[in-house]
Amino acid sequence: MKKNIAVILGDGIGPEVTHQSIKVLDAIAQQFGHEFNYSYCLMGADAIDKTGSPLPDETVEVCLESDAILFGAIGHPKYDNDPSAKVRPEQGLLKLRKTLQLFANIRPVSTYPSLHHLSPLKNKQLEGVDFIIFRELTGGIYFGKKEINPEGTRASDDCVYTAEEIERIAHLAFQSAQKRRKKLTLVDKANVLETSRLWRKVVQEIARQYPDVTVDFLFVDNAAMQIILNPKQFDVILTENMFGDIISDEASVISGSLGLLPSASVGNSSSLFEPIHGSYPQAAGKDIANPLGSILSTAMMLDYFNMTEEAVLVRKAVEWTLAHGFVTKDIDAVNSYSTTTVGDLIRDFIENRIPSTVNKSNIALSKSTII
Ligand code: IPM
Ligand code: MG
Repeated sequence: MKKNIAVILGDGIGPEVTHQSIKVLDAIAQQFGHEFNYSYCLMGADAIDKTGSPLPDETVEVCLESDAILFGAIGHPKYDNDPSAKVRPEQGLLKLRKTLQLFANIRPVSTYPSLHHLSPLKNKQLEGVDFIIFRELTGGIYFGKKEINPEGTRASDDCVYTAEEIERIAHLAFQSAQKRRKKLTLVDKANVLETSRLWRKVVQEIARQYPDVTVDFLFVDNAAMQIILNPKQFDVILTENMFGDIISDEASVISGSLGLLPSASVGNSSSLFEPIHGSYPQAAGKDIANPLGSILSTAMMLDYFNMTEEAVLVRKAVEWTLAHGFVTKDIDAVNSYSTTTVGDLIRDFIENRIPSTVNKSNIALSKSTII
């Protein structure tokens, strides 16, 4: 198969982690006879520095023509600490989501036994945790009318949803539940918010088309608590934009490392794949960032291309590195490997170049893994 992939390296550690994913994609292409063509484009602080705009028109054009978008990370401290900045890197990402109608942000949360000790939760709460969050991404308070009075003393952000916006993501979430453990939890604040009551009504109606899926409803404050108290009760969580932003960060700590978690933002014509971590500017250029979030996002991209066997192989390679302790500093501060080395090892695994006994000292020296 031939696929055109738009690559946005972005800010901070974005470029170095994304380069590992490209390595992985090249190895997959070679092993399975695919052709992946990459078009590099700009977004975020990097784009502001080079063009003045956080999302140049050319980037939108390239993304619209691509089969998928691979994205690194966005954000720079010089904008975070300046509330009066007129252009912000994040505007680029929000505009891209809206322009491409990337309406569903999908974040799987799973745990790896070798990382249980890093999780703030106890072992017994972690076993069997495997859920997926469907966050609405192009509506709600993020995109409602924003106002501030001339005196700068009163501000408002409207939260608006239409039934149609709720329906399209609800169908995706129900279909995902059907392929999983057949349970869907709608997270809302229907005891207070009108938009949440609309979500409940629409989801209850759609549920009739998926009789094999059990649906329950949780208020977002209770959901925030349940995710920590008993995360294994969840299978598919469906929620609106702002609640999804918050609970998906909360859920991300369960696995033990933020650096591991992938995401997909799915639209009607194209989809974007990115690790959930931020740009981590303190680590930029140091070759220490964890590339697994990006590489697992690439696995989600392969799933999206219907390259199931390929996606399984990438996940197997990632599990292999974790099980053997070939991990970056965030996972093991004492025995750690560089971003590049972890990427190389995953590529070698995919290319079947990993011998049964691995020479760790050679790897530490960035030499061949083959003894
Ligand atoms: C995310 C991020 C973004 C969001 C920011 C960078 C605008 O936190 O993807 O979750 O709030 O959606
Ligand atoms: Mg967020």
